[in-house]
Amino acid sequence: MKRRDFIKAIPVAALVPAALTAQAGNVFAQKAQTGPSQGVKKASSGASGTGKLPGYARKFLTSDMDGVGPDGKPTGQKATFTGASKADSEPHAAGKQMALTQEEQDILDGKEGEEKAKLMKILVAYGNAFGAEKLVDLGGAPHSNMYVGTDYMKSMIAMFDECAEAGLKSYAPYTVNPRPYDVYNVNNNKGDMELIYDGYKLQRELDWVHARLGAPDLNFRSCACYLDEVGNAPKPGTYVAWAESSAVNFGNSALGIRTNRNGAGMDLLSAILGKAPLFGLMTDEGRKAKWLVEIKTSKEPDWGAVGTGIGTKVVEDVPFITGIEKYFEGGKVTADNLHLLKSMGSATAASGAVGLYHVEGVTPDAKEKGRDLLVKGYQTYVIDDAEQERIIKTFPNLWPEKDGDPTAAFIGCPHNSYFEIIKYGRLITEALDKAGKEKAAIPIYMFCVNKVRDRIIKEEGELASKMKRAGVHVTNMCAVSYAGMKGFSERVRGITNSAKTRTYSTIRYFPDDILVKAIVTGKIPS
Ligand code: F3S
Repeated sequence: MKRRDFIKAIPVAALVPAALTAQAGNVFAQKAQTGPSQGVKKASSGASGTGKLPGYARKFLTSDMDGVGPDGKPTGQKATFTGASKADSEPHAAGKQMALTQEEQDILDGKEGEEKAKLMKILVAYGNAFGAEKLVDLGGAPHSNMYVGTDYMKSMIAMFDECAEAGLKSYAPYTVNPRPYDVYNVNNNKGDMELIYDGYKLQRELDWVHARLGAPDLNFRSCACYLDEVGNAPKPGTYVAWAESSAVNFGNSALGIRTNRNGAGMDLLSAILGKAPLFGLMTDEGRKAKWLVEIKTSKEPDWGAVGTGIGTKVVEDVPFITGIEKYFEGGKVTADNLHLLKSMGSATAASGAVGLYHVEGVTPDAKEKGRDLLVKGYQTYVIDDAEQERIIKTFPNLWPEKDGDPTAAFIGCPHNSYFEIIKYGRLITEALDKAGKEKAAIPIYMFCVNKVRDRIIKEEGELASKMKRAGVHVTNMCAVSYAGMKGFSERVRGITNSAKTRTYSTIRYFPDDILVKAIVTGKIPS
């Protein structure tokens, strides 16, 4: 199945651990089976020690995310979502049993209740499947990307509902991805509401699960949990178990935290146990770079295009990126420049499966270890003007009516920072002023956490009013969930400056200057 089709069907991207939890979630609904014989002490027929993996799980260690060479042909490299390439790997090849501490074994044996025992059983099976050495204690705060209350999430929502009913909680208050709809600012019409309430029947149950397990109120919902306004930015070196691909990518790279690209649900499960299996991107070895990426564009790079090129090239390997230090004064990632890494990084995670990158002189690992992070025999990928142009030319026009005019603009996937909303708000309203207009030709959707929206109203009230008059809808939902609504691609010809939105939808990608012109005129400049 093509990735885009797949994402349309299932907006939760990372599948490997989700498959494990779905499998174990069914077990969870049955009577608890605790004790060493069902756990890890005695080897059983399957790689996880919990039984033979079914046939359908075989392909879950690889995906249809294939690396492609400059000629556009597959290189044979496939993503496994673990942060370490294992092209053509087989689940049965894992087969290793993790050593557990007495405390962990006690949990597995049911001494802290049957619910925790079941969660531990899943976590151990997960660690074993990926060849983890042991479990480690988590710090900082969790982030969950369980955010869509759809039918296919039913077993997982039921599992966490049982945990909440049993009084379990996350080891610390945690943040959650944005909700998939917004009936106040965008989906406020009968047609959309019908689709939403039909498609996301379990949203209420899911929200209620999060409220009981330790998530704060809905005003904090965001995929960009590391923004100051949300406040979930653990210190470098902290082990966490996040799942949202863009947050994992930013967290590992810009914050220097240590997490794998977990599947939806595995984040929350790990949060309740306060533990995660140690493998992949959580280890020094797994954080080494197999690629040196040299950015040599003559002007500031197109961050989304560059990220797309890197993701397509390295798939899930770790790149060590040079040539962009100058955009981070003093080697500092700040509230005013983090969007550059957010844009590039989320594109690497969407077009490939990159969970970590290093930027020379900027990101914490690179500052500490420099080029020692490169493995022996690393490969080199140069992105110059010609390569950037080539990458942009690979972006297809997926509008059914290819020559039609745009009908809506989408800005903010991952969620916009305060700096970005102000930047785009000014760019759009100033361009409108210049054109002698008050209202843009098409509606503009800007996605951000409510806390950022509130700050803008408080600190930039005049601009906020002008944006509103221009036709800007500031919304706290997920951009891709909106674009994934039934019938969306048939009725909306969207434009965006988010390479992630482009990857997962039919919305077309344009750099900022073209995007703004199209917003003002309603036409794509030739
Ligand atoms: Fe965030 Fe949704 Fe994009 S969760 S990263 S706005 S796909």
